[in-house]
Amino acid sequence: MQLNQVKAIITGGASGLGHAVAQHFVAHGGKVALFDVNDDKGQAAAKELGDAARFFRTDVTSEDGVVANVGAARDALGGLNVLVNCAGILGAGRVLGKEGAMPLANFASTVMVNLVGSFNVAKAAAALMQGNEAGEDGERGVIINTASVAAYEGQIGQAAYSASKGGVVGMTLPMARELARFGIRVVTIAPGIFWTPMVDSMPPQVQESLSASIPFPSRLGQPNEYANTVAFILGNRYINGETIRLDGAVRLQPK
Ligand SMILES: NC(=O)c1ccc[n+]([C@@H]2O[C@H](COP(=O)([O-])OP(=O)(O)OC[C@H]3O[C@@H](n4cnc5c(N)ncnc54)[C@H](O)[C@@H]3O)[C@@H](O)[C@H]2O)c1
Repeated sequence: MQLNQVKAIITGGASGLGHAVAQHFVAHGGKVALFDVNDDKGQAAAKELGDAARFFRTDVTSEDGVVANVGAARDALGGLNVLVNCAGILGAGRVLGKEGAMPLANFASTVMVNLVGSFNVAKAAAALMQGNEAGEDGERGVIINTASVAAYEGQIGQAAYSASKGGVVGMTLPMARELARFGIRVVTIAPGIFWTPMVDSMPPQVQESLSASIPFPSRLGQPNEYANTVAFILGNRYINGETIRLDGAVRLQPK
């Protein structure tokens, strides 16, 4: 798919990786709808991007809200052929912390946003994409999810986050297999450690030890490197049903 044909919903598009994807699409002639719970950042991001961007205040965990806004976004964009799921939360916490066992609500809310939310927007987007006119090879749309290397080697304190991201990796292939008959591809990116507000919120010593742990290049990933990978996936129709690590060869240690 050419980037100037992109009409995309980007969840978590107000910040970090999602925002970088929105910038990349708009810079190359695409149109974007930003879905985010952060009203202020969402409005500001859409304003900065200009006429090719719209913000829809959306909680990815709301089934009705997502269906309504996916429809509204399709109407505003004049179509919908790409979904990039970037909305996510860290949900850090030990199974057995100083205060006792983790409240189930903490685990559940992390899985709800990162995994259930990704599925929720994907199914609503696919329901509309299936009606698109078929392009080359019969392609009607592309869904890109964001997992994490924590899906494979989660650290202490990441039981909930890793479970949620492992679920995203797990649903990629069955969803790609099922949606193949509609010409909709499903691909997941598993980032290592990227410079975004999510990482900004970590203590400096944690950030430094994270950078030092990355073999090459020995630095945090840049959001535009994530956006380039999204663009690469869109441009290469043979990539489907796969999770791509984007991580400078990092393998997270237990802590
Ligand atoms: N930054 C990293 O190092 C890194 C590494 C691996 C994976 N990831 C994943 O990449 C994705 C983007 O992360 P980021 O670093 O850009 O984080 P970020 O915090 O900068 O952006 C995440 C965005 O998601 C939004 N969001 C949170 N809950 C939401 C909800 N219920 N509905 C709608 N929007 C919601 C937030 O408001 C925020 O704007 C996340 O899924 C994250 O888990 C990030």
